[in-house]
Amino acid sequence: MYGMVNRAIEEMVTTGFGAEAWEKIKDKAGVDVEVFVSSEGYSDQITYGLIGAASDVLGLPAEKVMEAFGEYWILETTKRGYSDLMSSGGSTLKEFLSNLPNFHARLSMIFPHLAPPEFAVSNVNENSLTLHYMSNRAGLTPFMKGLIMGLGKMFETPVQVELAVAKASGADHDEFFVQW
Ligand code: HEM
Repeated sequence: MYGMVNRAIEEMVTTGFGAEAWEKIKDKAGVDVEVFVSSEGYSDQITYGLIGAASDVLGLPAEKVMEAFGEYWILETTKRGYSDLMSSGGSTLKEFLSNLPNFHARLSMIFPHLAPPEFAVSNVNENSLTLHYMSNRAGLTPFMKGLIMGLGKMFETPVQVELAVAKASGADHDEFFVQW
């Protein structure tokens, strides 16, 4: 994944737990990269390793680390240079989620080698919809949940997210039932 992702994990950890915790996490993950460059590609294993090590060092389940990271990504990371893009995604939670299938395509100019997830929406109602999340990567379901929770906060819309169909249980992809 692009360095932007690892940088954001670093920022979340150092802001919440200090620079020493981050050094411990990098040590534990066996990562010797001094500075992650946002626009450079890194092995996905580095990102997974950092999440696993953060879970150990901070004493939190990996799901919680990923959920927190999803919220952090929406509420903090996207503020730095991507506010226009986020605003163009929609002015309500429903609109934003409905536009999600096209979202990462707009980033391909900045990140030409992006391997983004795919999204689809179905059963769109006044106060709920089903969000389909398709990825070649495994294990990022809690990150996705955190992203949706973060969007709820961004739009000041209390939201409930339920994993209705799980890839981990053999389904083709994850389906989230999102209610607000
Ligand atoms: C300005 C906003 C955003 C930027 C700059 C951005 C950028 C990125 C980047 C660089 C990656 C790593 C993929 C790679 O390097 O190949 C990524 C992955 C991902 N993004 Fe975004 N993204 C944004 C918003 C969102 C939003 C709003 C969602 C969903 C609510 C989302 C969902 C994901 C997920 C789930 C992944 C993990 C990769 C996977 O599942 O395969 N992103 N994004």
